[in-house]
Amino acid sequence: MAGVTVRAPAKINLHLGVGPVRDDGFHPLDTIYQAISLYDDVTVTDADEWSVHVEGVGGVDVSEVPLGERNIALQAGLLLSGHHGLDRRARIEIAKAIPVAGGMAGGSADAAATLVALDRLWGLGTADDHLLLLAASLGSDVPFALVGGTARGTGRGEVVTAVPDNGAWWWLVVPDPEGLSTPAVYRAFDDLPPQESLDPAAVLGALAHADLVALADALRNDLEAPAFMLRPDLAETAGVLERPGVMRVLLSGSGPTLLGLVGTQEQALLLRERLLDDGRPAWIAHGPVAGAHVVEYA
Ligand code: C5P
Repeated sequence: MAGVTVRAPAKINLHLGVGPVRDDGFHPLDTIYQAISLYDDVTVTDADEWSVHVEGVGGVDVSEVPLGERNIALQAGLLLSGHHGLDRRARIEIAKAIPVAGGMAGGSADAAATLVALDRLWGLGTADDHLLLLAASLGSDVPFALVGGTARGTGRGEVVTAVPDNGAWWWLVVPDPEGLSTPAVYRAFDDLPPQESLDPAAVLGALAHADLVALADALRNDLEAPAFMLRPDLAETAGVLERPGVMRVLLSGSGPTLLGLVGTQEQALLLRERLLDDGRPAWIAHGPVAGAHVVEYA
């Protein structure tokens, strides 16, 4: 086999409950992830040396993506070959449609896709629980990128369990040209007075009943306040997005991408046009969608 292409989705958090920082520097999370229809495609081929090549799709700026061993997809490749005691290397090509440093776990998607792609390219048959463990060691969001759908994340986000979701949800996805550092947002969270940590029961109920109004009401992100503190302009943009047809505006993960929950695809298309007229490019996406999966064997 010459090459394998794996597609992995962006994630959003419908509930992001954050607890006080742990001794290891991470924060305990109780989160509901949803995989949405923005994807990175990762193609791997055998090579004499490891390398990563990144191309932006749909206007995504990839200038900040590291290409050496700091690249999380390359780290995933090294980890998988080490796990199997292999002396093999690969060329990793990433077609990136998920915004970089956008709070949508694009790097995690690339890592998850690389694990699956190399597993298939090299016929390794890595057990799912081993893949999940390798994924967790790469980053808190990587296991979810493998699993996809809608899932509850606990621990530091790496312990994922599928949850019932009977909806087909439409999202306006409003990127921001400037990335936001996840550790910086968590540090700003630490500086804010502690708040009551809610569980995601309301979101879980709305998903199970496919209840749009209830979901709009239940969405919650504990990182919104610290992100808006670091970037007050994001709160302003969120205000601009609050308009008829948008059921609720929410920050995606640690930001800066903003999300608008919309009732139908038609409304989402219309709202995207209006935003474009206002000089604000946006994408539309639906969820839940599948986790990392093979789309091509070459
Ligand atoms: O796990 P990941 O590499 O994605 O985490 C990036 C950074 O985000 C961590 O170094 C930490 O600063 C912060 N983080 C956190 N608590 C989590 C997840 C991430 O503080 N549960």
